[in-house]
Amino acid sequence: MSKTTVIAFANNKGGSGKTTTCSNVGCAMAMLGKKVLLIDGDMQLNLTISFFDEEKAYEYAQGEKNIYRAIKDERDLSDYVVETGIEGLDIIPSTSLMSSIEFDLFAKWQRESVLKKCLERVRARGYYDYILIDSPPTLGGWVMNIMCASDYVVIPVEASPWGLFGLANMFEFCNQAKNIAPKLEVLGIAITKADERKKYFHQTLETLKEMEGARLFENYVRVDSAIEWSQDNSKPVVAFKKNSRSAKEYMNLTKEIMQYGNR
Ligand SMILES: Nc1ncnc2c1ncn2[C@@H]1O[C@H](COP(=O)(O)OP(=O)(O)OP(=O)(O)O)[C@@H](O)[C@H]1O
Ligand SMILES: [Mg+2]
Repeated sequence: MSKTTVIAFANNKGGSGKTTTCSNVGCAMAMLGKKVLLIDGDMQLNLTISFFDEEKAYEYAQGEKNIYRAIKDERDLSDYVVETGIEGLDIIPSTSLMSSIEFDLFAKWQRESVLKKCLERVRARGYYDYILIDSPPTLGGWVMNIMCASDYVVIPVEASPWGLFGLANMFEFCNQAKNIAPKLEVLGIAITKADERKKYFHQTLETLKEMEGARLFENYVRVDSAIEWSQDNSKPVVAFKKNSRSAKEYMNLTKEIMQYGNR
């Protein structure tokens, strides 16, 4: 069996912290000595601009080095990898063309498994310890592809009333994916943008702790303006401001994810 572990970051709720978590966990893994490949699966390009300025991101988006080209032509993903500038951390950028990926997938043979097949050789080579995939806030054929290509799903959740709304749909979607990919496991729920001053946060925390069938990661990430500054500087906070509160929290969350997510 391949030693590469593939983890999807998914939640149909927009703005739940998927991209921030994916970029920081990936960067933290690389800082801990792992070889990591990130895949930006979202047409918003947020994972891509976590590492590059807009000009560079558009160059990838308009050129050949992006996930859309690879999936549309059903190519081995190794040819689409670029370096992030952080040691041990590579990325396959995205493009706004991903807006038509559902349409492109529709006509394909075994359309839920296209990404999985494109990843086969990268996995078989075993160079990467982890491949982390950032998902868009949808539950369609493309996110089903992401699920079916993954060993685990991490669900970032904002501890707010609307943050929990729709979580049941997310679990139902994971169950559907398991029909096609039986080894897929929900690794856990990661709370993001936590505000401990709010009573509602503690209420939500209790609700999530009591939820059956899914692990709630002990380490959560609190609201921190260092995250926004880091994103403005095209670097994950764990690399941009190592001593910030959120950098330490993301480092701890990463260690917890690595402890459980190891195939
Ligand atoms: N811990 C945090 N503290 C402060 N701001 C945060 C934190 N985590 C994320 N954010 C901000 O919240 C917003 C949403 O985060 P992010 O883009 O990671 O969510 P997402 O789930 O990927 O969104 P989408 O569904 O649009 O892809 C971003 O503007 C980000 O800067
Ligand atoms: Mg995102």
